[in-house]
This record gives sequence, C-alpha cells and structure tokens, in this order.
Amino acid sequence: MQKGTFPLTTSSRVTYMRLTLLGVFFLCFSLLTGAEAECPLQLDPQRVVVRYGGSVEVNCSTSVLHNGMGWEASEGGVPKTFNKSLITWRVIKLTEWDINPSCYINLNNSKQCQIELPVIFYKTPDSVSISTVKHRGPMKEGQQYELQCDVHDVAPVQYLTVKWYKGQTLLHQTNFSDTENKTLVNKTVTLLIRPDRDDDGAQYWCEAELDLGAKGPQPPPKINSSEPLNVEVYYKPQHSSSTETIIKDDKVMLDCSVKANPAPDYTWSSDQLKKTITSSVKSSELSPGKYTCTATNILGSDSKVFILKSTERTTFWAIVLTGVVVAVALIIAYLIFKFKFSKNSLI
Ligand SMILES: *[C@@H]1O[C@H](CO)[C@@H](O)[C@H](O)[C@H]1NC(C)=O
Ligand SMILES: *[C@@H]1O[C@H](CO)[C@@H](O)[C@H](O)[C@H]1NC(C)=O
Ligand SMILES: *[C@@H]1O[C@H](CO)[C@@H](O)[C@H](O)[C@H]1NC(C)=O
Ligand SMILES: *[C@@H]1O[C@H](CO)[C@@H](O)[C@H](O)[C@H]1NC(C)=O
Ligand SMILES: *[C@@H]1O[C@H](CO)[C@@H](O)[C@H](O)[C@H]1NC(C)=O
Ligand SMILES: *[C@@H]1O[C@H](CO)[C@@H](O)[C@H](O)[C@H]1NC(C)=O
Ligand SMILES: *[C@@H]1O[C@H](CO)[C@@H](O)[C@H](O)[C@H]1NC(C)=O
Repeated sequence: MQKGTFPLTTSSRVTYMRLTLLGVFFLCFSLLTGAEAECPLQLDPQRVVVRYGGSVEVNCSTSVLHNGMGWEASEGGVPKTFNKSLITWRVIKLTEWDINPSCYINLNNSKQCQIELPVIFYKTPDSVSISTVKHRGPMKEGQQYELQCDVHDVAPVQYLTVKWYKGQTLLHQTNFSDTENKTLVNKTVTLLIRPDRDDDGAQYWCEAELDLGAKGPQPPPKINSSEPLNVEVYYKPQHSSSTETIIKDDKVMLDCSVKANPAPDYTWSSDQLKKTITSSVKSSELSPGKYTCTATNILGSDSKVFILKSTERTTFWAIVLTGVVVAVALIIAYLIFKFKFSKNSLI
C-alpha cells in the first residue's frame, strides 16, 4: 500500500506541472488578446498639466490603416480625418474646465475605439488672505483664537495644500480630499492658536501650494502667500525670581523692571518709596531692610522682594583687620613653639 503512494504522488506532480503550463499558456494568450484588444493609438504626451489660459498640444497617431480618426473635445476638436496617421489636438488659450479630450479611430472591421487624454487643468489662486475670526486687537496670553485663511479661485482642489506658518516655522498643513471638483473653488481653512508671551509680535501667514506632480511645472507653483498677520499678545508681569538679596552700594539698583504687555505700573511697599513709580531704585538711598515692589498691568500683577543689606566700609576693614591679626598671632605662636622645641631638644 505504501509503495503505491509514490507513483500516485509523481503522477499528481506531473498533473500539477501540466496545469501550471496550461495556466502560463492561458496567461500569455490572454495578454496577447489583451494587446490586440488595445486601441492602436499613441498619445504624445500621454497626459498633460495645463495652466488656466495656457496652451496645449497633443499628438494622436496610429500605425494601422483606418477608416477615419479624430479628436473629440469641448475645445479644439479635430473632425474625422481619413488620410492621416497623426492628428493634433491644439488649444492656444484653454479656459474650458470640462474639456475631456479623447482621440478615436474607426478600424476597418467597423469597430471604433478611443483613448482619453488625462488633463490636469490648474489655476493658481487669485488671492490668499489671512484674518482672525471674530476678534480684533491684541490677544490675551493662554486664550484660544481662530485664524482663517481664504484661498480664492483655485483649481484643482485635490492638489492644493494650505500651509500655516508662524515666522519661518511650519505650524500645520491641510490637504483636500474632494477629488471630484475640477473647477475653480474658494477654500477657507482655519487654525486654532493659543498664543503665549513669546508670540507677542509674531507674524502668522498662510500659503497655498499646488503640487501637480512630476509632470507639473517645476518647482511646483508655490504661489500666493498671504500678507503676514502681526499678532500682539497681552501678558501679565512675571518676575524670573521673586526674591533678591542686594548689598547696598552706590552703583547697585533695586531693579524691579519686568516684561509685560501692556507695560506695567510699579509700586513700592515702603514709606520711604511711597511716591516712587519707577521700576528701579538706587540702593544707596535706602536703609537696609525689606522692600517689596509690585508690577501691575490689566492682566495681573507680580511682586518681588528685595532684601537690602548694608556692607559699610568699616565692617569690611574690620573683617580684614581681624583676619590679619589672627594670622600674625598664629605665625608668632608657631615661631615661639618651634623656638622652644628646638631649645628643649638641644638640652
Ligand atoms: C506632434 O507632431 C508634429 C509632427 O510630427 C511635431 O512637429 C510636434 O512637435 C508634435 N507635438 C508633440 C506635442 O509631440
Ligand atoms: C487627404 O484627403 C484630402 C481630400 O479628402 C486631400 O485634399 C488631402 O490632400 C489629402 N491629404 C494627404 C496628406 O493625403
Ligand atoms: C482598411 O480600409 C482602407 C480603405 O478604407 C484600405 O485602404 C485598407 O487596406 C484597409 N486595411 C486593412 C488592414 O484592411
Ligand atoms: C499671486 O496672485 C496674484 C493675483 O492676485 C498674481 O498676480 C501673482 O502672480 C501670484 N503670485 C505668484 C507668486 O504667482
Ligand atoms: C498633503 O499633500 C502634500 C503634498 O502633496 C504631501 O506631501 C503630504 O503628505 C499630504 N499630507 C497629508 C496628510 O495627506
Ligand atoms: C464643485 O465646487 C462648486 C463650488 O464650490 C460646487 O458648486 C459644486 O457642487 C462642486 N462640485 C462637486 C462635484 O463637488
Ligand atoms: C470666490 O469668492 C470670490 C469673492 O468672494 C467670488 O468673486 C468668486 O466668484 C468665488 N469663486 C467661487 C468659485 O465660488
């Protein structure tokens, strides 16, 4: 029984190989018939990218004898021609959106076939503009705002990318998936931002780019950036350190100045400085102690404490003198000790 299994396996392998060969044969056959079924027309170029208002020229040629060939298109069509093997579709100024050109041929066996020419018809936008949605004037730090980019009369939208920038930094980009629309459209894209203090004075802008692929104009028409939108951000004062120790000196100031928008007002918590509204005060004019300064603008306030210490010259010299005296005393003591010790060792 076991012996019998081998021939069976061999024969099934042969069957399998035959089937494979048959399959390959059928594949070749179908490819061949497929080639025969193809329309005997060549387009040159095979696809075109045309600017709105631009010119276009495409040749349709055949190597077979025919019973008439022509171009069908809503502009620049070529009527049925009998005694030529090359016909040219040509439009000097293309403005028709639904152009749908195709070249056809009437074969002798009374069959007709045609090839459609893929056309990417594009137009760079008339304008790209940026604005803030439902807001005017300065923004407040930490709050959310909406920016809007309007792109007018652009096509085709499926190749459009709208990019958002802050300064030179790319923030976001949007592509469009509505592939059906071949005609001019207006597109509005929005971006949510939450500016912080570093964004005060920043410039936001948007850009519309048509990336039409390798057949398109190179580099891609990186057209039409919006004007920059200058953003003013209001933020409250915030000192980098809340306490500072100052040694009283002619040149040293108690400096409370801090960045804030709008610029803050300053107050000082000391009878001595009751009328002071400046951001810094000379330390030499104050007696040692604690001074608190508060910077305030419409968004809030922030305080800073200065601890003013006196370092009079006398104190300084007293410390130096004490040091010198101690050092001298130590040296003398050492010398006396050494002198006595050497004397003792001699005895
Ligand atoms: C179309 O064919 C003509 C004649 O052969 C030639 O002069 C022309 O350059 C061709 N145009 C294109 C777009 O290939
Ligand atoms: C094609 O045929 C037309 C008449 O049908 C004739 O006037 C023309 O000269 C022919 N052109 C060529 C290239 O044979
Ligand atoms: C096709 O028809 C034309 C005339 O209409 C003829 O001159 C030509 O020889 C025919 N070609 C074939 C392949 O039958
Ligand atoms: C931007 O659009 C204007 C029309 O509003 C056009 O004249 C200009 O050429 C475009 N910019 C670029 C870089 O193509
Ligand atoms: C948007 O389009 C650009 C350019 O065609 C492409 O590089 C990018 O990957 C696309 N992004 C998304 C999210 O589809
Ligand atoms: C194309 O866009 C226009 C204008 O926005 C609109 O009226 C039309 O319905 C759109 N067509 C398709 C197929 O989306
Ligand atoms: C786009 O907007 C502009 C201005 O509002 C308008 O003139 C134009 O007709 C619009 N285009 C389309 C395709 O809706």
